[in-house]
Amino acid sequence: MPVITNIADLKRLHERRTPRMFYDYAESGSWTEQTFRENTTDFEKIRLRQRVAVDMSGRSTASTMIGQEVAMPVALAPVGLTGMQHADGEIKAARAAQAFGVPFTLSTMSINSIEDVAEATGKPFWFQLYTMKDTDYTSRLIQRAKDAKCSALVITLDLQLLGQRHKDLKNGLSAPPKLTPKTIANLMTKWAWGIEMLSAKRRHFGNIVGHVHGISDTASLGAWTAEQFDPTLDWSKIARLMEQWGGKVILKGILDPEDAKMAAKLGADAIVVSNHGGRQLDGALSSIRMLRPILDAVQGDTEVHLDSGIRSGQDVLKALAMGAKGTMIGRAFVYGLGAMGEKGVSTALEVIRKELDMTMALCGETKVQNLGRHNLLIPEDFEGRWQP
Ligand SMILES: Cc1cc2nc3c(=O)[nH]c(=O)nc-3n(C[C@H](O)[C@H](O)[C@H](O)COP(=O)(O)O)c2cc1C
Repeated sequence: MPVITNIADLKRLHERRTPRMFYDYAESGSWTEQTFRENTTDFEKIRLRQRVAVDMSGRSTASTMIGQEVAMPVALAPVGLTGMQHADGEIKAARAAQAFGVPFTLSTMSINSIEDVAEATGKPFWFQLYTMKDTDYTSRLIQRAKDAKCSALVITLDLQLLGQRHKDLKNGLSAPPKLTPKTIANLMTKWAWGIEMLSAKRRHFGNIVGHVHGISDTASLGAWTAEQFDPTLDWSKIARLMEQWGGKVILKGILDPEDAKMAAKLGADAIVVSNHGGRQLDGALSSIRMLRPILDAVQGDTEVHLDSGIRSGQDVLKALAMGAKGTMIGRAFVYGLGAMGEKGVSTALEVIRKELDMTMALCGETKVQNLGRHNLLIPEDFEGRWQP
């Protein structure tokens, strides 16, 4: 077994083990992938202030996100088709998150259903909602999340339509994979994945198949989103969904200070500053660049979380020191899952925790809550001067 010391190690194993169409699905952004790339490269532009002669004992990464205690402020982001990266992937990722003490978010577009994950885990998880044209279906989905005792509803706002990711179209992405000569040739080189998949609880979209009727192709993410996602979602509809849910709400996919103010005004418990990992509007700025303007706009009226581009505990520290209360990771845990299942997700979390803890110590801090802009060196033009 190779020695795993960072997230890039897990990514290499993921690529080796998982069918090409699912690895590509994770490892792509929309169109030119500029935003996807800059999400990570912009983190590199921020530097850290080394401080010495500080008592480093008694360090802790523990914190809270929306009032819930977390071992570190890093939640697993909702990721569609997680159960195609590894058999029963959502159950495995949820278990790893639970054992570690961080929140797991189940995507609407998951393979394991809400009920599967609730049955397999002891603690409440977060449920991510995509709103559908079929309002009865959306209501039933919300009710199913309530019945499963989910502790927060994460409403994703940046995917009313699906950004174009060239590789997914060329690969004919579907769950389960359609058996074309190209996919068969690739699957023949992924035996371990295939054998485990034979005994998976599910191989199709578990929250959808059996719960809706009249869909032309339930295996295709592209067809489903084009036919079913609600393109009319607006703030008044979001307010109604929040009311219907009645519990903690996180609004995800906010990248503009004006939208952040609206979300805070609506009473969201938290927002996630996110560009969907560079998978939606290519050409948008990275999340980390938009964090400060958004924090300034909401003035503490809602908790601010950030995702998109986090590949290390150092990235987490930079987001927290900049002012985020929490973070989410998407690909960083998916690489782990694709590489080694549940153990891989635990490894990804452990790698990130260790990097966060050591970096915190070398910056002269012992608690994540004490991190602040005083720990960072941010280039003067980091946010840039953009004309509207
Ligand atoms: C393969 C993949 C599938 C995703 N599916 C969803 C989804 O179903 N719902 C959602 O709200 N976000 C989804 N996202 C976005 C993530 O929740 C998160 O915003 C993003 O992964 C953060 O960027 P990172 O991967 O650089 O950490 C997905 C991201 C990836 C990589």
